[in-house]
Amino acid sequence: MVFFTSIFTCLAILSTTVVALAIPLGTTGRSLSISEDGQTISIDGRAINLDQAVTRAGVCSPSSHGGGRQRHGKGGPSSNSTSAASNNAKAIYFLTNAANNSIVALKVAADGSLSDGSITSTGGVGMSGVDSTGAPAAPDSLFSQGALKVAGNSLVAVNPGSNTLSMFSISPTDPTQLTPLGNPVSTLGDFPVSVTLSTKLSLACVANTGARAGVACLTMSPNGLTPLDKTLRPFALNQSNPPSGPLNTVSQTFFNADSSALITTVKGDPSVNNTGFLSVFPVTNGAVSMTETRSSPAGTAVLFGTALLPNSNNIFVTDASFGSATLSLDAKNVASVVAKTNIADQKATCWAAFSDVTGTAFVTDVAVNHLVEVDTATGALIKELQSGNGNPGMIDLVSVGNFVYALSPGNGSVKAAVTVFDVSGGRGAAKEIQNFNPTGVPDSAQGMAFV
Ligand SMILES: *[C@@H]1O[C@H](CO)[C@@H](O)[C@H](O)[C@H]1NC(C)=O
Ligand SMILES: *[C@@H]1O[C@H](CO)[C@@H](O)[C@H](O)[C@H]1NC(C)=O
Ligand SMILES: *[C@@H]1O[C@H](CO)[C@@H](O)[C@H](O)[C@H]1NC(C)=O
Ligand SMILES: *[C@@H]1O[C@H](CO)[C@@H](O)[C@H](O)[C@H]1NC(C)=O
Ligand SMILES: *[C@@H]1O[C@H](CO)[C@@H](O)[C@H](O)[C@H]1NC(C)=O
Repeated sequence: MVFFTSIFTCLAILSTTVVALAIPLGTTGRSLSISEDGQTISIDGRAINLDQAVTRAGVCSPSSHGGGRQRHGKGGPSSNSTSAASNNAKAIYFLTNAANNSIVALKVAADGSLSDGSITSTGGVGMSGVDSTGAPAAPDSLFSQGALKVAGNSLVAVNPGSNTLSMFSISPTDPTQLTPLGNPVSTLGDFPVSVTLSTKLSLACVANTGARAGVACLTMSPNGLTPLDKTLRPFALNQSNPPSGPLNTVSQTFFNADSSALITTVKGDPSVNNTGFLSVFPVTNGAVSMTETRSSPAGTAVLFGTALLPNSNNIFVTDASFGSATLSLDAKNVASVVAKTNIADQKATCWAAFSDVTGTAFVTDVAVNHLVEVDTATGALIKELQSGNGNPGMIDLVSVGNFVYALSPGNGSVKAAVTVFDVSGGRGAAKEIQNFNPTGVPDSAQGMAFV
């Protein structure tokens, strides 16, 4: 059953064929049809080519959401069976965030290891924020998680320097081949840094953190993106272009698991008694409301990257001021802390992903080169995997099947890298298996997504 759910997300790419046999599906009023050649089945007009579906099932992302929600595994936490392995990524993607902003696609082998794939221009402009001295804020140049996202066979990426979003279709046969869908489209604000996609709502929502800061939503179609909003859902951050950070900037925008709310983390600035906040815009009748609930959970100050948790409405979030926390939302969408993890040697714990194979969350730090594993229910710190690979630290990461992929932007003397961790041993057993330096990638790289 789970297998079928996952293949259903990538059906649009397949053409319909002549129906030879129609089989009613119980009392649902729906039917399943089998094509004349026996190679294609259709349900509700959606066709599945059996040969291709079987080989391609792992290519499709069952997660249509942002928020760092990763593949929802089969068999639950600590299971690393063959089915988990078949959920491994086929490609991973990140942004160069260079002036000629481009998507880097890397190939993933069956053992999880990476090799060069392609680099495709977004047609937009990358840009770095600035630090408190006005200098470029590299390596954490967007102060965000989720600069690009994949849903099904679509990829959407931000262009911080041209205030646009670019959409691509991913080739089902070679996921490193990206085809632009239309031209880049305005984000209605300045300096977009985080995007989230909902297949259910056919929406892409993007968070801007420059002078015009706030969230805008666009409709996604096979032809590309179309602006939906007339105005931004504003955040009065009093920011500049480019924004000065990381404090007092938008971190991540994401749909919750059932796309019933659009949630955004916004960093405060503890030095001026600004606590930051979690913003929740409910989704009603398929549209993201313009009316918001904000809360500043006690004990948090610099909310950053997030991960949704399976079978729970709780949100796992990093806080660059201490480590990570698990938040619950009450009926009015007000957040409170239910578990908290202080990471003693942290400098900026900012990015998060949840693994269904380990049943735990992993967080990274841009200035400490370690992968930290956390129990999201209790806040217990399970393991700090200190890497000896020489990178300065890691930013965006994704967890997919038996592996975690974390981006390390270069810094002038150390090249940009993606570090691969094998988590198939279950809770507490993550190990580094590769530190891959992709060809032709500048130090400005940002974001991480997979198919
Ligand atoms: C932009 O980057 C792409 C991908 O690397 C490259 O193919 C293209 O030639 C570049 N365009 C310019 C104008 O530099
Ligand atoms: C907004 O920023 C400007 C420039 O940094 C500063 O002069 C001004 O006081 C700020 N306004 C508020 C309301 O914080
Ligand atoms: C900090 O902000 C909180 C909430 O906005 C307020 O209650 C408190 O008095 C402020 N503290 C200082 C020192 O300004
Ligand atoms: C880059 O990072 C490495 C590892 O932390 C550090 O030794 C080196 O000094 C850094 N280089 C620059 C130019 O910051
Ligand atoms: C996962 O696989 C590893 C290596 O094959 C094995 O040692 C471990 O016991 C497995 N864990 C679970 C939870 O099955």
